[in-house]
Amino acid sequence: MKPRYLRKQPDHRETMTNYYNTQAGFYDATRWIFLYGRERLIQQLDIRPGERVLEVGCGTGKNFDAIQQRLQGTGEVIGVDCSRPMLQRAAERVREKGWKNVRLIDMEYGKEPITRGKADVIVFSYSLSMIPEWELSLACAQSELWPGGRIGVVDFYKSANGSRWFEEWLAVNHVNVDRPYEERLRQFFRKCTYMRCDAWAGLWSFYLFIGVRPAFSMMNAAA
Ligand SMILES: C[S@@+](CC[C@H](N)C(=O)[O-])C[C@H]1O[C@@H](n2cnc3c(N)ncnc32)[C@H](O)[C@@H]1O
Repeated sequence: MKPRYLRKQPDHRETMTNYYNTQAGFYDATRWIFLYGRERLIQQLDIRPGERVLEVGCGTGKNFDAIQQRLQGTGEVIGVDCSRPMLQRAAERVREKGWKNVRLIDMEYGKEPITRGKADVIVFSYSLSMIPEWELSLACAQSELWPGGRIGVVDFYKSANGSRWFEEWLAVNHVNVDRPYEERLRQFFRKCTYMRCDAWAGLWSFYLFIGVRPAFSMMNAAA
């Protein structure tokens, strides 16, 4: 066997695929216990019929039901993910529901936009904290939206009195809470809503951000 330093390190796509290989099957049955705020996020994004909604890191497509309720069979849902087992679950869901307005894309989000400025809404639901190139992904999301288009993010939040044990457990599960998410989101998007909530008596916290792509910003100018 090759020494550790000569062995090829798995890239992010491989890591996500391996991680969810065993988990995809029971993901929906277990994650409701701690992935709070997802329905509230979709509700507050005020998605309207005919809109194009892109979910980055859509996983099994758990949020699609709530999105579709608002689209009422119109518009388009684009689900992007880089983990094959999760996308397979999403594809099963789409087939079972008979949705014709859903496109699933297997890619690591962030290198180039998918709709090139034609998305109305972008959703990051517990995915931003798992993306190594998260700032690049936010820049990409900004260029993905029409001016005035909305972005919604729900994710874990590093709170000063949160449990250290929980944070370490998140890190083992490829979730990084120790980054300046709020700061960066406010730089890329005009904030409409930002709230932090405690879960399980403060054992951990999550935040919800809703913002709008400004018609012009210094971030656009720098790009
Ligand atoms: C915790 S799951 C959330 C799934 C879904 N959004 C939900 O709320 O149930 C995070 C998802 O993000 C995906 N992901 C992580 N990094 C990604 C990247 N760079 N590009 C696309 N998807 C990514 C993972 O494969 C995983 O399916």
